[in-house]
Amino acid sequence: MKISPFSPLELGGATAKNRIARSATNDHLGNTDGTVSDAQIEMYSELGRNNVGIVITGHMSVVPDLALRADIVQPSIADDSFIPGLSRIPAELHRYGALAVAQISHAGPKGMVKVDYNSLTVAEIDLIVQWFVDAAVRAAKAGFDAVELHAAHWYMFAVALNSDLNKRSDCYGGDNERRIAPLLRMIKEIKRVTENRLAVFVKLNAHNTLAGIDDYDMLVSYASALHEAGADLLDISGMSFAKQARDAECYFIDAAAAVRNALPDAKIALVGGIFSRATIEKALQVADVAAMGRTLLTQPDFVTRLQAGELEKSRCIRCNKCFEVFRTKFERCIFGPVNNKLKETFEDK
Ligand SMILES: Cc1cc2nc3c(=O)[nH]c(=O)nc-3n(C[C@H](O)[C@H](O)[C@H](O)COP(=O)(O)O)c2cc1C
Ligand code: SF4
Repeated sequence: MKISPFSPLELGGATAKNRIARSATNDHLGNTDGTVSDAQIEMYSELGRNNVGIVITGHMSVVPDLALRADIVQPSIADDSFIPGLSRIPAELHRYGALAVAQISHAGPKGMVKVDYNSLTVAEIDLIVQWFVDAAVRAAKAGFDAVELHAAHWYMFAVALNSDLNKRSDCYGGDNERRIAPLLRMIKEIKRVTENRLAVFVKLNAHNTLAGIDDYDMLVSYASALHEAGADLLDISGMSFAKQARDAECYFIDAAAAVRNALPDAKIALVGGIFSRATIEKALQVADVAAMGRTLLTQPDFVTRLQAGELEKSRCIRCNKCFEVFRTKFERCIFGPVNNKLKETFEDK
């Protein structure tokens, strides 16, 4: 059955007005003290105004030490003092009826100070679990509809789930059950302390070995455990998203299909290589949500223009220069500032 991208979707008690998500995108626009900037509010406003139904923030650090963030301008969600600034994001998105999702992470080996999962004690991992739970409570207090636990790409909990990178032989390593255990505890605790009022999404890698071959048994095993623990959306990504061919479409769709077949009742988002009406429709044949990163980075008004029939395809050429151009202040894409208001706001800082 063909599902319209513009039909509503229930996700853990919250209702998204459509099935199109802005995938988490670290914007490099935060303040160095970890607070949210005016430029970020303007950026989220533009996504909300332009009919993106689910807006997932760039990843925010749960680690109390700001020096362990992913970069010097990554927003923090590790202290109650950040709640008033963070609350501006859902307030802005809710003006347009978009769901506001705070992605929360520990940068681990990708932080400014690198932290190796294998060298942590069990007590230290338990403390990190608690940091995620505390961060989720702050997200709820700030008015977010959901949190997304970042367990994808190369960050701390992607390492935990990767059977080659996780070399532990204690209660957090050695088999699938032990590798997934900290994430399951996070979900259960977040649900308990927020009394089920906050939806919990989890972003996962399609492949959880370094060879990156079709190890979907491991993915399905993790997905089943997360679903059973109460995860409201499984967001399927992968470590290789920046290495795909320019014209590659929906490159994690087979992984999403494996999860769909095993868990017909789970809600699934697919991200990676969705850049046109056709690829959104292709993604929704398997997943409940079509999530886009670079497409909305270069054209935040992509969905509005798609709905109006003004375009069929993103202008993104998947050059991956967006990982570098943020160093030139307001520019986020080789096509330029993207948004002049963003330029003004950023330069005024
Ligand atoms: C500049 C940039 C920053 C990103 N930051 C994040 C992030 O903070 N958290 C995350 O989970 N993924 C992040 N991603 C990955 C995207 O969410 C997405 O998974 C990836 O870009 C593939 O989707 P796409 O083909 O639609 O761009 C980032 C991607 C880009 C290009
Ligand atoms: S910099 Fe390149 S990959 Fe990134 S959004 Fe712009 S065109 Fe796409």
